[in-house]
Amino acid sequence: MKRIKAIYPGSFDPPTNGHLDLIERGSKIFDELVVAILRNPEKDPLFSVADRRKMLEAMTSGFDNVSVDTFDGLTVDYALRVEARAILRGIRAISDYEYELQMALMNRKLQPGLETVFMMPAEKYSYLSSRLVREVAQLGGSIECLVPDLVEQKVREKIDVAHKFANREQSAGKTPSEGKSKFRKKKL
Ligand code: PNS
Repeated sequence: MKRIKAIYPGSFDPPTNGHLDLIERGSKIFDELVVAILRNPEKDPLFSVADRRKMLEAMTSGFDNVSVDTFDGLTVDYALRVEARAILRGIRAISDYEYELQMALMNRKLQPGLETVFMMPAEKYSYLSSRLVREVAQLGGSIECLVPDLVEQKVREKIDVAHKFANREQSAGKTPSEGKSKFRKKKL
C-alpha cells in the first residue's frame, strides 16, 4: 500500500500547544508528516526561521514519523518537491474557515492532485494563536500552558532582550515614542 506523506505548512512564530496538538493528530493519520516553516522575507518575525526550526524539532522529537523543514515559494511546489500528497491545516473556529477554504481551493487550482486535510485542535486551544501568544507575552501576561515550556523560555528571553534594548534607548535620551517605534519594529 502507498504510504501517505503530508506537509503541515505554517509560520509557527512561535509554535504553540495548538500546533503540537495538530502535529500529534496528523502523525496518527499520515505515514509521514513534515512540519514546513515558511521562510518569508517580507514578514518581520519574532523568531528567526532557524530558532523556530530548533523549537519545532525539540517539540516533535518524540514522533518517529514527524520531521521539520523550511521552504519558500508556493506551498504546492514544496509539497510536490517532497512528494507529499496532502497539506494539513488546522481549523480552530468558523472564522478560520473562509481564509482556509480560499487557500485550499487556490492550492487545488494550482495542483489538483494535492489534497488539503483540515483537522481541529483540541477545544482548549480553539482561541490560541501565535499572534496572541506574542502579544500576551509582550504585555507581561502568562503564556504558560499555551506553548511548550521550551518555547515559553525562548519567548521570555526575547522579550527581556527587547525590554533591555528599549530601556537603554530611553536612558540614552531618546523619547519614549522613539523607543516604542524601535520596539514595535522588532515585533516585541
Ligand atoms: O501559519 P500561517 O501563517 O497561517 O501559514 C500560512 C501559509 C504559510 C500556509 C501560507 O501563507 C502559504 O502557504 N504560504 C506560501 C505561499 C503560497 O503558497 N501562497 C499561496 C497560498 S494559496
